Amino acid sequence: MNSKHLYPLLLVSALLVIIGSYLWKQNDSYVRESPVGTTTSQSLYADPKSPTINPTKPLPLPPPSNPPTRLYSMNEVVMHSTATSCWSVINGNVYDLTNWITNHPGGTNAILSLCGKDGTASFTGKHAGDLNPEAELKNYLIGVFEG
Ligand code: HEM
Repeated sequence: MNSKHLYPLLLVSALLVIIGSYLWKQNDSYVRESPVGTTTSQSLYADPKSPTINPTKPLPLPPPSNPPTRLYSMNEVVMHSTATSCWSVINGNVYDLTNWITNHPGGTNAILSLCGKDGTASFTGKHAGDLNPEAELKNYLIGVFEG
């Protein structure tokens, strides 16, 4: 075979190799992007380090994003009645106000007077319906008062 015939033949072969590898890649990513357990090629492509998938066994649920709220008794709240640990019950919720004592625009004493007790009457007496105090209070929620 002379070079006149050889060059077009080489060109066609090179093109076939390029097209072939492109199609191979397409097929490969299709298999990997398919939902797990839906292709028969899974065992060929599955990562050997990943856990084996058993379609009959449901996958474990992720942990809840909102852990259940803790309940507190009055016995527990009264143990936090000082400036170094100040908890208060307001409208049935328990708040750790320790970090708010020195930041309260209405003075430290107003908050200190709530430590270790039910501060609902004092809080609502001053701030009922006030947006800023209600919003601020939410930052200190630690649980629910069990009553
Ligand atoms: C945890 C309980 C409380 C929170 C989270 C709280 C929060 C706040 C906030 C955010 C402000 C600023 C108001 C604003 O920017 O509009 C404020 C002001 C004030 N607070 Fe409180 N507060 C609490 C309890 C109390 C209590 C029990 C009293 C008094 C009995 C009191 C008296 C005042 C006073 C006199 C001001 C000054 C300005 C105003 O009259 O609104 N606060 N408080």
